[in-house]
Amino acid sequence: MRRNGYHHHFHSGHRPFSDRRWILPFFASLLVSVTLLLAALLGNFSYSYERDLDEDSSEYFVESDLNEVLRKPEDLKLEAPRIAYLISGTKGDSQRLRRTLQAVYHPRNQYILHLDLEAPPRERIELATSVKSDPTFREVENVRVMAQSNLVTYKGPTMFACTLQAVAILLKESVEWDWFINLSASDYPLVTQDDLLYVFSNLSRNINFIEHTQVLGWKLNQRAKPIIIDPGLYLSKKYDIFWTSQRRSLPTSFKLFTGSAWVVLTRSFLEYCIWGWDNLPRTLLMYYANFISSPEGYFHTVICNTDEFKSTAVSHDLHYIAWDSPPKQHPISLSIKDFKNMVKSGAAFARKFAKNDPVLDKIDKELLGRSEGRFAPGAWCIGSSDNGGDICSLRGNDSVFQPGPGAERLQDLVQVLVLKDNQPKRCAAQ
Ligand SMILES: *[C@@H]1O[C@H](CO)[C@@H](O)[C@H](O)[C@H]1NC(C)=O
Ligand SMILES: *[C@@H]1O[C@H](CO)[C@@H](O)[C@H](O)[C@H]1NC(C)=O
Ligand SMILES: *[C@@H]1O[C@H](CO)[C@@H](O)[C@H](O)[C@H]1NC(C)=O
Repeated sequence: MRRNGYHHHFHSGHRPFSDRRWILPFFASLLVSVTLLLAALLGNFSYSYERDLDEDSSEYFVESDLNEVLRKPEDLKLEAPRIAYLISGTKGDSQRLRRTLQAVYHPRNQYILHLDLEAPPRERIELATSVKSDPTFREVENVRVMAQSNLVTYKGPTMFACTLQAVAILLKESVEWDWFINLSASDYPLVTQDDLLYVFSNLSRNINFIEHTQVLGWKLNQRAKPIIIDPGLYLSKKYDIFWTSQRRSLPTSFKLFTGSAWVVLTRSFLEYCIWGWDNLPRTLLMYYANFISSPEGYFHTVICNTDEFKSTAVSHDLHYIAWDSPPKQHPISLSIKDFKNMVKSGAAFARKFAKNDPVLDKIDKELLGRSEGRFAPGAWCIGSSDNGGDICSLRGNDSVFQPGPGAERLQDLVQVLVLKDNQPKRCAAQ
């Protein structure tokens, strides 16, 4: 009886419902309309609230004082610029790291070298010893080797955490630098430091070179939804990144940008990132801890979501990189046959090179005027070359530059980038 009753009940309940099929869609669309209306109203409110904050009351809050640092009137400083370099490598890289260092060395600049945890301690000590025993480095005191070596995972957050640590050391150790450039041991310059510093003297000191595009469409789902874990954050041995089974929703409080992991960033932007008086750089640092290929997104997303900086982001990394065709995933190793294209590109640096590839000797000879084991010379080298002497063994005035053909190439590239890639286009969706 009971069973039948249940059946009967079920049937009688079901029939009238199926007659009114419109009810469900009706309420669903009502709910959507109400939600949209509310969202529009709230959106308007928060918009006007933000505008009020900007126009009238921002002076009551501490952040506006701190941000004054960023709105300094355009460089009154006329002194020649200085660059801070991070050159990093791994096991077996110390010799080519030294070669890259000699090729980009200039007494005005600052250098920090990092060998990751895969390199044995002996290699790190050898590198530190060779820096210590160089008479120029000893006198100028502008080359440092990081004692703390980090476990660095390719595509993981430990990679850019290491970059941030190097920047923090450079900020603390030297007040005198204007731009930060990160290189790896497989990068090499295509212009002399005299060329680079000469061209950069003519540049507004708030320009950042950071190749970027907004992440949109299917790429957004593919990039932003997966959650990765970098074991390098908590294990002492190197393991590959792994994906969790959970996925997260797309960010709505900031827009995602991506681009080259090779950057030329201004001191003021990096102070903003490291000191963190605004919470955005810190929030994004935590967000990117679980993001795949975070070195290709962290600085890009910070700079393009910050009003004070987005107009300063010029979309180029000043590197010549040739990609495998297709799938365009990995940079190919450059050789003699790429020399012409490298020079034509006007870029300041190229990557990547195999250890002691003959094209490096060609670059040394034809572009840098560097002989083996020595610095790429500049106007600061005033020694004598008699009897094969090293002209850089005697240092002259380091704010005098002697630009060569490299300066012309780089000047042409930079001029096109800074003028053509005009401000409204920076950080805009493409
Ligand atoms: C800096 O340079 C290294 C090369 O060693 C690169 O792999 C890394 O991703 C770069 N960028 C950042 C943001 O750390
Ligand atoms: C500086 O830039 C201006 C205009 O962009 C250019 O005409 C001039 O030649 C540049 N000077 C140097 C030293 O590069
Ligand atoms: C170095 O050269 C710069 C630019 O030519 C000049 O202003 C400065 O006085 C020189 N410094 C010394 C110590 O000679």
